[in-house]
Amino acid sequence: MTETPSDDWVRDGGASVDRRIFSDRAIYELELERIFARAWQFVCHESQLPEAGSFFTSYLGEDPVIAVRDRTGAVRVLLNTCPHRGNTVCRAEQGRLASFLCSYHGWNFDLDGRLVGMPGEDRFYRDALDKSQWGLATAAQVESYRGFVFATLDPDAPPLETYLGWVGRLGLDMMASQGDLAVVDGVQKNRIRCNWKIAVDNLYDWYHVKVSHGTALKLGYLDEASMAPMDQMVILGEYGHGIGGPGVTETQFADFQARMSRGEEPSFWYDFQAGRRLEPERQRELGPVGNRSFGHPNIFPNLWVTLTRQVCLRIPRGPYETELWWFTLLPRHLTDEQRRTAIAAANHTFGPAGLLEQDDGENWSHSTRGAMGTVARRRPINLSMGQGQDVVLIDPSGQSRIETVVNEHGQRWTYRCWQEWMNADSWSGLMENHSMPPTGAI
Ligand code: FES
Ligand SMILES: [Fe+2]
Repeated sequence: MTETPSDDWVRDGGASVDRRIFSDRAIYELELERIFARAWQFVCHESQLPEAGSFFTSYLGEDPVIAVRDRTGAVRVLLNTCPHRGNTVCRAEQGRLASFLCSYHGWNFDLDGRLVGMPGEDRFYRDALDKSQWGLATAAQVESYRGFVFATLDPDAPPLETYLGWVGRLGLDMMASQGDLAVVDGVQKNRIRCNWKIAVDNLYDWYHVKVSHGTALKLGYLDEASMAPMDQMVILGEYGHGIGGPGVTETQFADFQARMSRGEEPSFWYDFQAGRRLEPERQRELGPVGNRSFGHPNIFPNLWVTLTRQVCLRIPRGPYETELWWFTLLPRHLTDEQRRTAIAAANHTFGPAGLLEQDDGENWSHSTRGAMGTVARRRPINLSMGQGQDVVLIDPSGQSRIETVVNEHGQRWTYRCWQEWMNADSWSGLMENHSMPPTGAI
């Protein structure tokens, strides 16, 4: 049975959240309907589909899909389930082929999903099966933004760029503006026993760093100024998108840029990141505020864009389990040495062998476990940090942001928007009844 949405799950503007949303199976089923069967979600990067027949298999919620480049060069997203008896049509994670041949009875589908033939079409089916009705189902809409391929299962979803809005686009621009990107072969996949929202919540969380990652700091993996900066910038976007994390002032940014232009070595991580934003073209793309943000974008619901040249897709696997897929995207112009360094940094930070993710995963699992106790979950969790203490500033460019210290604005916004997605019974309902990003005191 599917849960009826309750306005009570998220209270006090997101500062108090009912723990059942991390553990209740009926709520999870409703999320699959109202969020994952409706939202635009990242599927793969175009560099993974270089030629006709190239494919990459993924999921939209729990629906398995195949992204494939068809013979016309268009990217299609097909449901990876055979219309005959439901078998998975494509078992490989990625590759290239001429058609999809189902391993159960041998129905064969062209790259655009059309059923082109099956064993016994004349003798067993007596030519009575209308093949045009039995192709693979397709995603309702497929679009890409700067090489990032997204799909939605809902025909009523607005166009991708409208859905992303300026905040979602900025989040992807931070990655795309680094140059002509290509995914490094070998998407890293691991499962963590946690609810998917706890992983999303954490990407805005710069409060946990000194404690959860204390060992990494002690080891000198990164210095404290880089890993746990107090100065933060939060950018909130429509439909739940957001960017949260370190931000620098205009003066600091100008100072970084001046030192980098003189060829000085970066003194710490944000200095280094600012050095990557020297080109006027890149600065123009990110805008005066976006330039100064070194935070973590989340494209609602489940795509984290990191500054370590990776994106992480959080695919739900039931209320208590989440699959994390790490894509490393490097500009094609890097030297071999730069590639090696970047891949080593990616492997050592996040993913199954990542120093930081091992710390995080433990806490996420236990936070989820804590939401399973019959009595324990009666008490809501607390997300009140900084509430009512800050203000949304609007730049003449139109880019709005909160400049503050470590805070929980990003998390509150995520849960508030999540509640609105859960309340709406259609895309038109969501468009009519969703909050615009806040202005003024927050
Ligand atoms: S299930 Fe695919 S051919 Fe029968
Ligand atoms: Fe962490």
